[in-house]
Amino acid sequence: KSTALWGGRFSGGPAQALAALSKSTHFDWRLAQLDIAGSKAHAGVLRRAGLLSSDEHAGMVEALDSLAADVESGAFVAAESDEDVHTALERGLIERAGAELGGKLRAGRSRNDQIATLIRSYLREQAKEIGHLTLNVVDALLDQAEAAGDAIMPGRTHLQHAQPVLVAHHLQAHVWPLLRDVDRLLDWDARAARSPYGSGALAGSSLGLDPAQVAAELGFDGPVENSIDGTAARDVVAEFSFVAAMLAIDLSRFAEEVILWNTKEFDFIKLDDAYSTGSSIMPQKKNPDIAELTRGKAGRIIGDLTGLLATLKALPLAYNRDLQEDKEPVFDQIDSLTVLLPAIAGMIATATLNLPRMAELAPQGFSLATDIAEWLVRRGVPFRDAHEISGACVRECESRGIELWDLTDDDLAAISPSLNSEVREVLSVEGSVASRDAVGGTAPVRVAEQRADARDKVIEY
Ligand code: ARG
Repeated sequence: KSTALWGGRFSGGPAQALAALSKSTHFDWRLAQLDIAGSKAHAGVLRRAGLLSSDEHAGMVEALDSLAADVESGAFVAAESDEDVHTALERGLIERAGAELGGKLRAGRSRNDQIATLIRSYLREQAKEIGHLTLNVVDALLDQAEAAGDAIMPGRTHLQHAQPVLVAHHLQAHVWPLLRDVDRLLDWDARAARSPYGSGALAGSSLGLDPAQVAAELGFDGPVENSIDGTAARDVVAEFSFVAAMLAIDLSRFAEEVILWNTKEFDFIKLDDAYSTGSSIMPQKKNPDIAELTRGKAGRIIGDLTGLLATLKALPLAYNRDLQEDKEPVFDQIDSLTVLLPAIAGMIATATLNLPRMAELAPQGFSLATDIAEWLVRRGVPFRDAHEISGACVRECESRGIELWDLTDDDLAAISPSLNSEVREVLSVEGSVASRDAVGGTAPVRVAEQRADARDKVIEY
């Protein structure tokens, strides 16, 4: 026999095919404890409205507590015949409190306001956890940055050597997007912290129940302003999903660099054995699987967001069953990030950067050409001309297979009367990075300040 919550007007149970399609307990069971917490809060407002006596309320709370314990221990699980987590838990309540009392809890609420509340509560909990795990990645990056000291590497644009930068500056460039993702989660919470409980099916409750009471008890800032919106809106879920996708993308961009840096050609990073995998056929292989899975899962996490947005795009108000499809995408994002983030943090923390190799490559590819141009500008040469002159230096060096600092005084004079031997002062990667000392620049003093700011931010959270 079906335990459906809507049997009254139906002549029989649902067809097996419908039941199989409709069922959600295999994914919404993770909301069970939150559902019970909501039920306890709801029981409280029923009592205050005079719809439950004190004795009945006490009996209800006792039954709900026993149900919560059995869910926790695994003694109570969803049955084959339960449509969703709400259905299963009502069955569990009635088994404990009897049909007379257990049957009173549903007054004044609907699964529509229940599920809209539960998904918010769940995402708010998970957002905190994901934020915390993200900060562990940030810590690992900041520790590596600090350990790199004033070491210099080739900074790239278009994946070509551009200008030398501090290794720490580059690593810290991955820190800020992650901190913004944590900010986004916190900021999102302000919008998520409205409870739909009390919206009922869509129109609100007629039983004198106080939504503000339930909201406060469940840790929300207050109830939703509009019961239709409360049951129909999923923008809060979609926004969470966007932040999850952005976080995955930020991790994936870092992962892509780890994969490149880990090649023989770059040779910038060595991953710890515990955070690398081997090949079943090639004994010599050590693969950056964590980074590759990060890149791969980022695609899937973006897909979760895309699917959710597509589900929402044409839904009329208020609740439609399509909305049941809001959960699996965000659950998948959460599950993916929850396994990814600790693996990434461990991979970073245990990796060894090949600083001598990075230093060796830093001045190559004429990465100091901009420094020549800026040296000329400081001597009054218009940048347009300085750019030309510096470009002529590069052309000369390229044709002779030499580096910029190999140009003799005669070479320099032949290229431009504005050049002389003093330009060599800026033709070192150390001089180049030290000169970029405005806020946000790669000068060692700024990079250290920047790191201190980032560490402060981590502590603030
Ligand atoms: N399981 C549904 C969901 O996840 C909630 C149930 C609402 N069902 C209904 N027929 N109104 O959205």
